[in-house]
Amino acid sequence: MGQQSTGQLDTVMHESRVFPPTPETSARARIKSMAEYQQLWDEAAADSPAFWARLAKEELHWFQPFTEALRWNEPFAEWFVGGKTNASYNCLDRHVAAGNGDRIALIWEGEPGDKRQYTYAELLREVSKFANVLKSLGTKQGDVVSIYMPLTPELVIAMLACARIGAIHSVIFAGFSAEAIADRNNDAQAKIQITADAAWRRGKVLALKQTVDEALKKSPSVEKCVVLDRVNEAIHIEPGRDFWWHKLMAEASDNCPAEPLDSETTLFILYTSGSTGKPKGIRHTTAGYNLFAKKTFEWVFDHREQDVYWCTADCGWVTGHTYVTYGPLSAGATVLIYEGAPNFPHEGRFWELIERYKVSLFYTAPTAIRAFMKWGDHHVEKYDLSSLRVLGTVGEGINPEAWMWYHRKIGGERCPIVDTWWQTETGGIMMSPLPGATPTKPGSCTMPLPGILPKIVDSSGAEVDATHGGWLTIAHPWPGMLRGIWGDDERFKEVYWSKVPGKYLAGDNARRDADGYYWIMGRIDDVLNVSGHRLSTIEIESALVSHPNVAEAAAVGRPDPLKGEAVAVFVTLRGAEPSEELRKELVKHVRTQIGALAQPDDVRFTGTLPKTRSGKIMRRLLRDIAAGKETVGDTSTLEDYSVLASLRSEEE
Ligand code: PRX
Repeated sequence: MGQQSTGQLDTVMHESRVFPPTPETSARARIKSMAEYQQLWDEAAADSPAFWARLAKEELHWFQPFTEALRWNEPFAEWFVGGKTNASYNCLDRHVAAGNGDRIALIWEGEPGDKRQYTYAELLREVSKFANVLKSLGTKQGDVVSIYMPLTPELVIAMLACARIGAIHSVIFAGFSAEAIADRNNDAQAKIQITADAAWRRGKVLALKQTVDEALKKSPSVEKCVVLDRVNEAIHIEPGRDFWWHKLMAEASDNCPAEPLDSETTLFILYTSGSTGKPKGIRHTTAGYNLFAKKTFEWVFDHREQDVYWCTADCGWVTGHTYVTYGPLSAGATVLIYEGAPNFPHEGRFWELIERYKVSLFYTAPTAIRAFMKWGDHHVEKYDLSSLRVLGTVGEGINPEAWMWYHRKIGGERCPIVDTWWQTETGGIMMSPLPGATPTKPGSCTMPLPGILPKIVDSSGAEVDATHGGWLTIAHPWPGMLRGIWGDDERFKEVYWSKVPGKYLAGDNARRDADGYYWIMGRIDDVLNVSGHRLSTIEIESALVSHPNVAEAAAVGRPDPLKGEAVAVFVTLRGAEPSEELRKELVKHVRTQIGALAQPDDVRFTGTLPKTRSGKIMRRLLRDIAAGKETVGDTSTLEDYSVLASLRSEEE
């Protein structure tokens, strides 16, 4: 409990390499030096509402101008009060109206190699048509549309169509289980479901519609379901409820003007794991989020008209919302999306795509980079990566070895690496190098973007000095911040605003070095980061105890060379003996309850869980056991931790 109780951490990282931007990168960048960055940051810090108001006027289309930049009634923020705008308009109509309708908006490649692309004018037509489809199914402003789809252009089209008419999208990653979909649909009271017959994953067919059919049995609020024919699978069609995407689109008009929406209209909810069993519906609104997505995209990637930008995230995660959809499309970028796995049909798939489409801006996750390193350099060396200009990472800290490999092998030692720290809750990137300005240090997300005021504090709220780590907080509201947890204001206050007065508590530990660089040091709560995805230990434990043979369960993270963290679980049984069969069954049970991403890598049976005298599970001990730091006896049968527990009980 040491970390959690004091909020102070001793630092263990000593990375001293510094990589300044090359003169060529700085010369062509929008922000060319640290002096220019500092000037912008100072302007924002001096009067942040005025700074963001200036940008909002320049960067967004307003049907009606706003009258007040920020109304702050902690912890509830309203940005650009009185204004009316539309995120779909900012992503599409604005570019077409400016004469850029022929510019390529989306380039898509499916896993089997099928290819499609859309200009901004074409994407506008498709989005308008699907917006009309949604209306024809009875979707009204404020209705929640649940989206469970593979990464296809139609997923982006569905999101923008919701935004166009003021419906709220709730995208659920297509790896979640029927149970997880139903939980989210019920919490959001979703009215419409959008899905596909199936998806391709490593050459296999994932039966999405079948999973949705299961989910909809338990989602009574859902009235209609639209199904994209992606794979041509035979599926069940429920008369009166299910409709084929292509049939509805064939009849829809392509005229659907974007609805002028109040700035604070909810744009989407996105479920993420917290430190309790129930996922939180993080709520983002229209104008502030849209501005933050656009500006952070332009700053961090130094985007230019001729760039081809590829973010490998799926739209099921926040990165796919902000940096596949709203950020780059608002900026008029050409965005590549790829449906499949990085190692299908071969381990060079990503590099093949970069060569084929001459990708210049590339944004991926450390877990993917570690996998590429493992697969071997020869997969990379076959391809021409000279089009690359800026490389990004997100989702978890990048270890310096992976950073150096990315720098040398992918970036040819010429491309700046932007290590971007942010969260589902922050809406967009909060800390990152700027490619033409910031000297980078491997493993550090460097400095806050303009308008962002991080403070590292201890549990009393006092700022810690440079040699110590502590809780990362943000001292002033920013336009992209979450506006709340769907339907649960109390939880919103409790999780983010109650422990440190007056500041947003991010949930991460961090340290600031003597040069003012920030280093993220992991979570302060029971949230795991598995392959860059957030999982709550309690969510996994709840899934396990719903199995009839599990009496008690504890889930912890274990360091993993590829995933960052792997899931290890300790279970006590009732009415069953430990067996390999039961182990497999429990793994499968977690898959069914949550999804494949939460599947435990290590299941251990124990007679009792080690607990403190006050009854708290000794998670630190379990973490050490899972990591192999504590030797235990025979792990094939029942483990007994009583000796280890009694040695530890005072310190936990
Ligand atoms: O712990 C931090 C880690 O991922 C968490 C946010 O997860 P999620 O909301 O799923 O969003 C992921 C994509 C933005 C953070 O609290 N994290 C994210 N980026 C970094 C990071 N940790 C270290 N360095 C990063 N660049």
